[in-house]
Amino acid sequence: MKQLPEKPLFSRTTQAIFYNEHPQPIQNMLDYDWLCRKKNPSIIAVVNPNHGGFHKCFFGGQEIILPVYKSIVEAINKHPEADVFVNFASYRSAFETSKQAILSKTIRTVAITAEGMRENETRELIRLADSRNKWLIGPATVGAIRPGDFKIGNTGGTIENIIESRLYRKGSVAVVAVSGGMSNELYHVISENTDGVYEGIAIGGDKFPGSTLLENILRLAKEPGVKMLVTLGEIGGTAEYEVVAALKKKHITKPVVAWVIGTVASLFPTEVQFGHAGARSGVNLESAQAKNTALKQSGAFVPKSYNDLGLLIKKVFQNKVQSAKNYQEPEKTNYQMPPLDFTEAVKNGVVRKASSITSSISDDRGEEFLINKTPLDAYLEKPLGHLINALWFKGLLNKTGEQFLELCLKLAADHGPAVATTHNAIVTARAGKDLVSSLISGLATIGPRHGGAIDVAAQWIFSQANKNTPPQDFVSSMKVKGELIMGIGHRTKSVQNPDHRVTVLKKFAKKNLKQIKYLDYALAVETETLKKKNNLILNVDGAIAAVFLDILKGTPLDNDQIFELLKMEIFNALFVLSRSIGIIGHIIDQKRLGTDLYRHAADDILYL
Ligand code: ACO
Ligand code: LMR
Repeated sequence: MKQLPEKPLFSRTTQAIFYNEHPQPIQNMLDYDWLCRKKNPSIIAVVNPNHGGFHKCFFGGQEIILPVYKSIVEAINKHPEADVFVNFASYRSAFETSKQAILSKTIRTVAITAEGMRENETRELIRLADSRNKWLIGPATVGAIRPGDFKIGNTGGTIENIIESRLYRKGSVAVVAVSGGMSNELYHVISENTDGVYEGIAIGGDKFPGSTLLENILRLAKEPGVKMLVTLGEIGGTAEYEVVAALKKKHITKPVVAWVIGTVASLFPTEVQFGHAGARSGVNLESAQAKNTALKQSGAFVPKSYNDLGLLIKKVFQNKVQSAKNYQEPEKTNYQMPPLDFTEAVKNGVVRKASSITSSISDDRGEEFLINKTPLDAYLEKPLGHLINALWFKGLLNKTGEQFLELCLKLAADHGPAVATTHNAIVTARAGKDLVSSLISGLATIGPRHGGAIDVAAQWIFSQANKNTPPQDFVSSMKVKGELIMGIGHRTKSVQNPDHRVTVLKKFAKKNLKQIKYLDYALAVETETLKKKNNLILNVDGAIAAVFLDILKGTPLDNDQIFELLKMEIFNALFVLSRSIGIIGHIIDQKRLGTDLYRHAADDILYL
């Protein structure tokens, strides 16, 4: 027989070390602490063998962090005030981890939740624990609960069950059960028929529990606050006969209500194995009937059936506890509800949350990735323009529009190493920068004078053409304002040296579009600007803008909607996407060539 602990295993100030970083049971324990109006969380540290650091959780509504240690010994040494070790290790590591806790100086109680531990391991742990006056709970248990003070892991079930069973404040009834599930049910029965639970423990259903039914009954019967006990045994094994013997010897003098579950087994013609490893009855002695009879004969209060248990508990409580002269109603402290977890509240529809991001073009949540509500596979056989149309325009453009997108990607992909975008990318690459940085350097050069004139060109072409402004008047007005016309002019191209890309775009428009009002208008402006200088041609930016407007005119969009598009930089986006292809080519080329740092020649700089 184990030496009984000198003081209760748990109190309001109990500090525990939690092994295995399982967020749910950790949070359940802290929410219970909060519910019981405790000032501090009962878990002081967490052990995670894979990494140290910290564990984020809540104490009430406040987010807190618990230290996480890789080693049990380190955690125990750093927190000597912890005397409970809640072990959520799997059956594979439960022995070694529990042993470390048992061998420590400061841990007094070890609760092992693992199912499937080997019997020889459990027996070795029991031997070690007994030799060091440590109290083992489990294995294969949900643990224990001391209402108002402390609970282990998920004992007591959900916070709603805990409130319903009034497990946030002490009553007069101690509970010692084998099964965790049954103990939770028993807590509820007791809360309905008595002044509540004083402390409850599920010793676990293995053949060799770390502490037996009798050991826990004697441990709890010692406490003055315990006025009666309820114990729930299980078919199989002989643990209940230890209780019978103790009752007969008057080692237990407080009223005990007892029941052994598994009476149904007698209805089966052969031996029955119930849920727990220890719950099997091969011989009559271990049957539920035999045990219930023996318990009754030894002085325990045993109901006729499980269904009568609640009534009997009520009767014994009223006659043996409540009617006693010195009976005092336990203090009716109230609980404080921890805030609902946000995700839980959203799931239960208790709160609603506006989304932070809105997207209308793709969805990766289902089995298949959808782009514009269409599975990705549908795009794989189609031209790239079809995919861009889906992602940029939600499928607005027709086939010609998609062909235009592809044409632009090809035409503007590159214009040699001398242009500003590519030059900067080359210089950056030669400075040893990575590809992305070099690409960004090139793309950052796109602006109103180079590659970034398409949006503004589209705006003036659209507005002036729609107003039927005579091109000459428009050119003059810009001159008067001293503003350059975006989409007009080129450093190297001219009437004599036309930009082939513009020629291709004009041909595409004339061949594929029913009307080319905007291109015609842009060309009429070009006629005016060429009167001034032969390089003031409609450049590739201007041509893309004009043709794109003619394509959009062929869609269901009205002018206002097209104008809205013009404000989204969607035209410049075409040049950005296209020129990225060429810039990346040049960066790779520089790396392939192994070119060194570029430094501009001083004789090419006018030092004012
Ligand atoms: N609109 C009106 N007048 C112009 C324009 C224009 N877009 N471009 C030049 N001019 C005028 C100049 O003001 C100058 O007039 P001035 O003699 O009275 O001073 C005259 O034409 C000659 O100008 P230059 O400086 O020789 O022309 P430059 O070769 O420097 O300009 C450039 C080329 C930078 C492209 C210029 O035309 C421009 O800024 N255009 C608008 C921006 C644009 O469309 N860029 C896209 C280019 S294509 C691409 O990057 C893919
Ligand atoms: C380009 O596509 O980069 C150009 O038209 C600009 C240039 O200077 O060639």
